[in-house]
Amino acid sequence: METQRLTAHDIERAAGILTSGGLVGIPTETVYGLGANGLDPEAVHAIFEAKGRPQDNPLILHIPDAGWLERYCRDIPPAAYALARRFWPGPLTMILPRRPLVPDAVTAGLDTVGMRCPACDVTREVIVAADVPVAAPSGNTSGRPSPTTAAAMLEDMEGKIDAILDGGPCAVGVESTIIDLTVTPPRLLRPGGVTLEELEEVLGSVEVDPAVRRLMAPGEQPKAPGMKYRHYAPKAPVTVVKGEPGCTAAYIQLNMEEGDGIICFDEYRHLFPGHPVETLGPAADPAAQARHIFEALRSFDHLSVAGIWAQSPEDAGIGLAVTNRLNKAAGFHIIRV
Ligand code: TXA
Ligand code: MG
Repeated sequence: METQRLTAHDIERAAGILTSGGLVGIPTETVYGLGANGLDPEAVHAIFEAKGRPQDNPLILHIPDAGWLERYCRDIPPAAYALARRFWPGPLTMILPRRPLVPDAVTAGLDTVGMRCPACDVTREVIVAADVPVAAPSGNTSGRPSPTTAAAMLEDMEGKIDAILDGGPCAVGVESTIIDLTVTPPRLLRPGGVTLEELEEVLGSVEVDPAVRRLMAPGEQPKAPGMKYRHYAPKAPVTVVKGEPGCTAAYIQLNMEEGDGIICFDEYRHLFPGHPVETLGPAADPAAQARHIFEALRSFDHLSVAGIWAQSPEDAGIGLAVTNRLNKAAGFHIIRV
């Protein structure tokens, strides 16, 4: 199959591919998604095939506004509308009880469904034109870092999808925050662009799923099935070093070996001459770090490095999302200095 390149002028064409059962790469503010008609089980199965995704990992549905929630969800709590008013369109996915018309293929048989309204005008316009909810996981092959540009998505999906709509680089760079509203108190299943602190302002108390901060023990189940997989894994083993940035840079400098790759903040790049280095942005700018983390991890797959050392930001704000992705890439191999 030849993968067509589409732009913001091709909204009707993208919508037509979706309604006829095809797969379209869609830009969002978080990462690129692999979209299909979320009411068409066969199209949804094709997503799993293109990604090599385990069948027990449910997909989320993308809608153009909160007015569509009632079509696919029931028993919607007022908190869902309060969150939508504050954060939609934006990087927040809400888990809600689903209506029967949402296919099992989307929810992996769960009685809940993840709902998201992306902050990307063209993508919302495509959804409106198709008049169907768009099921879309991140547009990577399962186990690889999520794509934050159309080119990165094509590395994994060229020839496997009908089209990709190029909307430029993603503004947030890590996948959406996932909040489960079917439990009390609401539970953060995945940290992202909407921060835990912001959620607490609207919801009061929020519980953090243990899978966000640590490796699950054998037999332990995270609430978001996808959080149990070793994600975002570069080919070389990753060691995350946490602490004050000057100390973590010094620690890496002392312990790295010839041929190791380094992921560091801009200020420390000069400490690692002769090593492949990917910078995340300034130490004090976690939003920049979020934009760069997946490209940094992806870039090492093109190089033959023995190991990768990464400086880690603090857990606050969007830093919680960056550390979560880094820790998962490292299989939670973390050193505190
Ligand atoms: O930013 C995003 O959310 C991107 C863009 C494309 O929108 N999408 C994305 O989808 O990251 P995906 O499939 O890569 O990650 C969705 C996560 C998975 O970990 C999945 O297990 C979890 O959401 N999930 C989906 N439905 C769920 C449900 N009903 N209950 C609990 N977790 C769910
Ligand atoms: Mg994903």
